[in-house]
Amino acid sequence: MKKIGAAFSVLVLGGLVFWLVNNSGYFPYTHNPLQYMPNMHHTKALIPQRGYDFYADGASVRVPPAGAVAVNQNPYPYTKATFAADVRKFSNPVAADLATVKRGQKVFMTYCVVCHGPKGYGDGYVVPPFSQPPSLQSEKIRGYADSQIFHVITVGQNVMGAYGPQIREQDRWAVIHYLRVLQRAENPNDEDIKAFENVFPPEQETK
Ligand code: HEC
Repeated sequence: MKKIGAAFSVLVLGGLVFWLVNNSGYFPYTHNPLQYMPNMHHTKALIPQRGYDFYADGASVRVPPAGAVAVNQNPYPYTKATFAADVRKFSNPVAADLATVKRGQKVFMTYCVVCHGPKGYGDGYVVPPFSQPPSLQSEKIRGYADSQIFHVITVGQNVMGAYGPQIREQDRWAVIHYLRVLQRAENPNDEDIKAFENVFPPEQETK
């Protein structure tokens, strides 16, 4: 029993001395430190643009299989060349509520305003030197179906590049709702004018 007690003391004392020396900083490890449970400290990182022998083609990144679609994304079926009249057949799938219009405003003020200007007249901050875009307040665009505007945003038109790859589908529909708000603000209909009269009633006629 005594022997076991002595052996235990030596073990504890030895452990304590080892711990103290180990943590004293007197013997800094320069290489091969003893690591208690290194876990995943030393992972094999794949460095881009370097050859890697795991896959037969030497690339570390996989190309998605043909036809792969991102979650919640619908592939756009039309190209500039196949743009057809039937593009009118699909309507804006996003409901025009306040949150959507506000989201559309954010998208417009992020992506479109630089060229098309704050109200869509084509007086953006980069015009000139960028060539002036046609007004989005035109009769032509006011008469466009939402899907036609969606088409222009998604695949681009002449000098305007495609924004499909940059703006999420939902946001492309939302920005159209905001564009409709801009158009209606500049060209109010009878209903809007009536609502306006409720806010600012015409002066009462005096006898
Ligand atoms: C880099 C500048 C630029 C940006 C950014 C830009 N556009 Fe355009 N956009 C243009 C130009 C220039 C045209 C005219 C293209 C042409 O000559 O057919 C145009 C055309 C359009 C048209 C068709 C107008 C017509 O009369 O045919 C629509 C609709 C439109 N843009 C919407 C948008 C929306 C919405 C955004 C934001 C998501 C946007 N654009 C972002 C430059 C831009």
